[in-house]
Amino acid sequence: MYVDRVLSGMRPTGNLHLGHYHGVLKNWIDLQHEYECLFFVADWHALTTHYDNPGAIEESTWQMVVDWLAAGVDPSKATLFIQSQVIEHAELHLLLSMMTPLGWLERVPTYKDQQERLTEKDLSTYGFLGYPLLQSADILIYRANRVPVGEDQVPHIEFAREIARRFNHLYGKEPGYEEKALAAMKRLGGKKARLYEELRTRYQEQGDEEALESARAVLGETQNLSLGDKERLYGYLEGGGKMILTEPQSLLTAASKMPGLDGQKMSKSYNNTISLREDPEVVTKKIRTMPTDTNRVRRTDPGTPEKCPVWQFHQVYSNEAVRDWVRQGCTSAGIGCIECKQPVIDAVLKELAPIQERARAYTEDPDVVKNIISDGSEKARDLARETMRDVREAIGLNYG
Ligand code: TRP
Ligand code: SF4
Repeated sequence: MYVDRVLSGMRPTGNLHLGHYHGVLKNWIDLQHEYECLFFVADWHALTTHYDNPGAIEESTWQMVVDWLAAGVDPSKATLFIQSQVIEHAELHLLLSMMTPLGWLERVPTYKDQQERLTEKDLSTYGFLGYPLLQSADILIYRANRVPVGEDQVPHIEFAREIARRFNHLYGKEPGYEEKALAAMKRLGGKKARLYEELRTRYQEQGDEEALESARAVLGETQNLSLGDKERLYGYLEGGGKMILTEPQSLLTAASKMPGLDGQKMSKSYNNTISLREDPEVVTKKIRTMPTDTNRVRRTDPGTPEKCPVWQFHQVYSNEAVRDWVRQGCTSAGIGCIECKQPVIDAVLKELAPIQERARAYTEDPDVVKNIISDGSEKARDLARETMRDVREAIGLNYG
């Protein structure tokens, strides 16, 4: 049976904010109804950059899981777990590291970018270089074929695809696969066998896709081969054998329209966030004091919504009628900025109220959260163990 399996991870950052909610969590919440989903806290990934200061990771993990649950990630639909509670990720990471060319890791764009950006840290570590490989292990160990990520992570998913391909190429061959393929070729019959061989050579030596297609067609119309032989010959065409690890695809998450209070991207480091558990009075105050169109100095000056961060909030929170009212009122100086902000304040508070109520219930009873994670981690371990059995067997380390 073939199922679409979704996997995604988030580094533990503690309290999440509206940027996370609109950018990631709402997407997860939609996906959990459509697919089998696994969502995990990437706590080892946090260590790659915070190895010198790991003290906050555990607390951040619990806070973040509370926010997931409060936002509506449903543990009866999705499997929620913590990366370090499924140590099989580490075993796969180690085994993959043996066959990963250094150059592939050095060429991942986030590697140099981050090193240059986070200059206050020494990131010339083995773990940091291996970040994308650990991420590959996270994905491949569940044979997840759909990975919802933002644009910045797409190269990491592409990297995981290449790793899966390399692994399958190196270890996906049954013992004696070549002899078996040659025997199957003989059974094709003299003329067809010669044609198959010629087309295979053309594809393998010149990358001729048409030759590959023709060879597949030859196999397709052949009647006198067993299914096993046919599969062997399809595999042999591309040089590979069985697929042990699944090549994942990224499910690109649309960039969130949710800006920060100052109109830049919402981010803790810009100090422009509204957290999911922000006190309603603080939410009101933060929005009331948001900057507006700087040309609108006096109440009587007309403004331009496109130059105002509040307008971006209206894009997220207001319907057409309210937006018309803003456009009209702002450009004619018919409304004041405080007036304009009120529907945004109301909408944000309305959005946060049920989230905060659920968060309260979870923080009052942390055992519920611990149990959810412990159940989820157990389920994840069962899946991970299955893959690792195949992986060990393929490499020849099952000592059975
Ligand atoms: N690298 C991701 C990030 O920084 C987090 C992550 C770790 C992840 N492992 C993953 C995401 C596996 C998707 C799949 O956001
Ligand atoms: Fe911004 Fe609204 Fe003030 Fe116009 S009226 S400047 S859109 S806050």
